[in-house]
Amino acid sequence: MLLTTAIDYTNGAPHIGHAYEKIFADVLARYIRLRGDECYFLTGVDQHGQKVQQTAEAEGIHPATFAAKKTKLFLNLWKKTGVDYDGWAETTDDRHKACVQQILTSLREKGELYKKGYKGHYSVRQEQFLTDRDRNEDGSFGPEWGEVVEIEEENWYFRLSAHAAWLKNYVSSREDSVIPAFRRNELLGAVDRAGEQDLCISRPKERLRWGIEIPFDPEFVTYVWFDALINYVSFAGYLAADDAGLPDFDKLWPADGSPTPLHIIGKDILVPAHGIYWLCMLHAMGFPDEQLPRLLVHGWWNIRGEKMSKSLGNVVDPDQLADRFGPDAVRYYLARDIVTGKDSDFDPERLVMLYNQELANELGNLCNRALNMTGRFCGGVVTTTHEPEAQDTALRESLAKATADYREAMDRFDPSAALKAINDHVTHCNGYAERNKPWELAKDAAKKARLETVLAHMVESLAHLTVLLSPVLPEPAARLAHQLRMDNLLSLKLDDLAWGLIPDGHATGKPKPVFPRIVIEEE
Ligand code: ME8
Ligand code: MG
Repeated sequence: MLLTTAIDYTNGAPHIGHAYEKIFADVLARYIRLRGDECYFLTGVDQHGQKVQQTAEAEGIHPATFAAKKTKLFLNLWKKTGVDYDGWAETTDDRHKACVQQILTSLREKGELYKKGYKGHYSVRQEQFLTDRDRNEDGSFGPEWGEVVEIEEENWYFRLSAHAAWLKNYVSSREDSVIPAFRRNELLGAVDRAGEQDLCISRPKERLRWGIEIPFDPEFVTYVWFDALINYVSFAGYLAADDAGLPDFDKLWPADGSPTPLHIIGKDILVPAHGIYWLCMLHAMGFPDEQLPRLLVHGWWNIRGEKMSKSLGNVVDPDQLADRFGPDAVRYYLARDIVTGKDSDFDPERLVMLYNQELANELGNLCNRALNMTGRFCGGVVTTTHEPEAQDTALRESLAKATADYREAMDRFDPSAALKAINDHVTHCNGYAERNKPWELAKDAAKKARLETVLAHMVESLAHLTVLLSPVLPEPAARLAHQLRMDNLLSLKLDDLAWGLIPDGHATGKPKPVFPRIVIEEE
């Protein structure tokens, strides 16, 4: 299955919203593989457009140099935070350009494109023409549009309106066209916009040079959204030569009823970019409905209830955050403290609190106790052959429930609920240790069997938790597996998670803290 994210604009540095989206996608990709399914994870950067050209000009450098410099920041961040993609999309890539130009040529041959003159208002910041629906009640254009200028020029247009009726029918009839359901309703409320006017897909070079040239009209470049959206097919191998080093398109965009691509996007780019332009573009290109992607729409991270913005100066730099708290804490927090589809408030105190409480204290404590006592009281050896008591059966039931809840949550793309399911079992295990007191059992030789059973249940739980945690925290999971001397855990699939992963007589390793507490120095 193809899993994509939005490609990030290279007109600035990566922010916490970018990091969230890529980490979310990375977690899902790793989960899909854990489930036993194939997943090709594609992400990248959106390098063209007026904003990049303008910012580069302001710095006195070529847009290509500027975009390459910003692209490095994204590449470094994904490396630092363990975002492990299979395909990397850069819109200045020649293979992408060739694909965009082939699509333009073929759409023109099909009569989907035409050229016309137009006079109207244009938002420089949003890089789009404005209509009366974009005006405030008093007729003015709001500050969100930035500088608004009047322009008169010829351009190329895509017959968006010709696909409006189809779009409405498609979105209403396909339940998973947009996920979650309330976002699909939002798109349904806006689909009629597709019929209102066609989409301007070119910019004259005298105004914008930094884009992909229109192949049949070299005085124009392609509108940045039309260019960027195509990354989802170009980097999946659409119309590519066999030796282009790109994947097999038919595998990633199947038309045989197997799961179609999943585009992870933020709420701001559902309408009109993905929900209207992209779906209509694909339809115009001849994609059948069964082959169309699903749109998985996430909400936004805000700062104290406010939108993150350069002008408010409240933009959170994920790179600094990873340096300060460690990449694991950043991954954990961004996966843990937001409900998919909804907005959340970014709060570094919650980051520290959730990490310290749920990982350093609860899971760290379980790991430390289980391995320490197995080492001290049982020579590091796990014995699994004694009859379980009611407490033990209850622990197994707690684990089975946690695993089922985790799976159900991940299958509906909700890592936060999945992590809560994991934590529920960790809490159960720590309570089980408190109730059974292996440190007391160890004082009485007659209770040796009971001691072994209790520790075996804790160690077995840890093995399962390690696997379940691995999509969110792959490196700590590898360290846990190593301490358990069960490196094979990381090649298991979800269906392998039955009771009895740890064989009788297995020798475990020594505990080393996997989640060192974050200590905030008083400033
Ligand atoms: O829109 N919280 O790029 P972009 C969560 N290049 N997500 C956020 C966010 C926040 N505060 N701010 C932005 C673009 N995002 C285009 C996409 S796709 C063919 C082209 C999300 O860098 C945003 O919703 O402005 C989008 O999904 C992604 O970050 C990139 O935003
Ligand atoms: Mg944006």
